Formats: sequence, C-alpha cells, structure tokens
Amino acid sequence: PAHLQISPSILAADFAHLARELQAIETADWAHVDVMDAHFVPNLTLGQPVVEALAKVSPVPLDCHLMIDDPDRWAPDYAEAGASSVTFHVEAVADPVGTARAIRAAGARSAMALKPGTPFGPYVDLLPELDMVLVMTVEPGFGGQSFMEDQLAKVREVRAAVRRRGGEIWVQVDGGVAQDTIGRCAEAGADVFVAGSAVYGAENVAAAIADLRRAAAD
Ligand code: DX5
Ligand code: ZN
Repeated sequence: PAHLQISPSILAADFAHLARELQAIETADWAHVDVMDAHFVPNLTLGQPVVEALAKVSPVPLDCHLMIDDPDRWAPDYAEAGASSVTFHVEAVADPVGTARAIRAAGARSAMALKPGTPFGPYVDLLPELDMVLVMTVEPGFGGQSFMEDQLAKVREVRAAVRRRGGEIWVQVDGGVAQDTIGRCAEAGADVFVAGSAVYGAENVAAAIADLRRAAAD
C-alpha cells in the first residue's frame, strides 16, 4: 500500500471539548467517529446531529464508523451530515449493495466493517461497491481493549482480494492499534489505522500520531 493513513478515534477524546480535541489531531489524515446505538453494541455514543456539528469544525475529514442496527436506513444521513467516509457493519446491514451505493450517492466513501468473528470470504463480491474494508481487531463497543492478533490473517485475505481485483480500496484496522501492533498491521496489508487510546491517551497527541506513522512505515 502506497499511502499509510492515521485515523485517531475520538472515542478516547474528551467529549466535553470535541472541537479542541479535533484541532489536536490536525496532522492526522482522518478523525474516526464511533457511532454506537446501544443495540448493535452495548454502548451509546453520539449520532447524526453531533457528526454534523463536528464536520463544521474538524480540520480533517470525518471517518464515521457506524456500530448501529439498520444502517440501511441511517448510513446515508451520516454522509449528508458531512462525513467523508461512512462504514456500516456487514452483520447489521440488509442490503449492502444498496447501502454502499446510497453512501456514495450522498458524496462519501463507502466502507464495510467485519467483527472479529465474521469471515470476509462471503463478501468478496461486494468489493466493487466499496472504497474501504474495516477489519475489527477487537470486539466493537469499547476503546482500550487488547489487539486481536488472529485478525491479521483476515487483513491479509482482504488485501490479497483487493490486489487481485485492482483499483484503490483501503484496508482499515480498528482496535488495540498502537506503537507495538501497528507495524504488524501494515505488514499484513492494512493502510488506514484507527487508534483511540494510543493517540488521545498520549501526553503529546501530535507526537503520538507521528510515532504511529513511523512505526507503520518501518
Ligand atoms: C471500538 C471502536 C474503536 C475504538 C478503538 O468499538 O470501534 O474505534 O475507539 O479504541 P482503541 O484504539 O483504544 O482500541
Ligand atoms: Zn471504530
């Protein structure tokens, strides 16, 4: 992969000062926004009105990760709210092709996420509808969990399928991505790295982003 991108997750940021927390990651490529509905995952974060407000002040484009039921109904709204990339979970979607197309029609990149227990194989034919595949490296729902090493095989599998197909489809990893795990993710073929605690938990957020970039490229 040519261009390695860092997408800090604001789930680990101070929710009382989100505008300031977004400014702090202006050297990143994206801001990862975790939308949780207390149904698809046992946690509740924020929704479309907040995404709309964040899009207006963010120095970097928003990468919206929807951990919600019925993304068919809601995903296009997040693109309209100003997210530049919208990710739905394949376990939750009824019509992945229609949903991916609706996201693109609303002006965003379309992406599909896989939970750790979900195989990629059955979904390979969806690649033409997608701009990114997210391989979860923790169970979705919470930040600060440990990286699941066994998901690297899936990262390799997705990267191989993308290579066979050609075209530019990014491979994202999310969960437990930090200084000590990001290199193995890059080696397996990931090129977009979500990091929550590794960025916002650091003393110096800008330095943490630079360190992650360096570790990914090594
Ligand atoms: C988990 C979220 C992640 C989370 C990652 O459900 O999708 O984006 O913020 O947090 P860390 O990097 O701390 O594992
Ligand atoms: Zn996420």
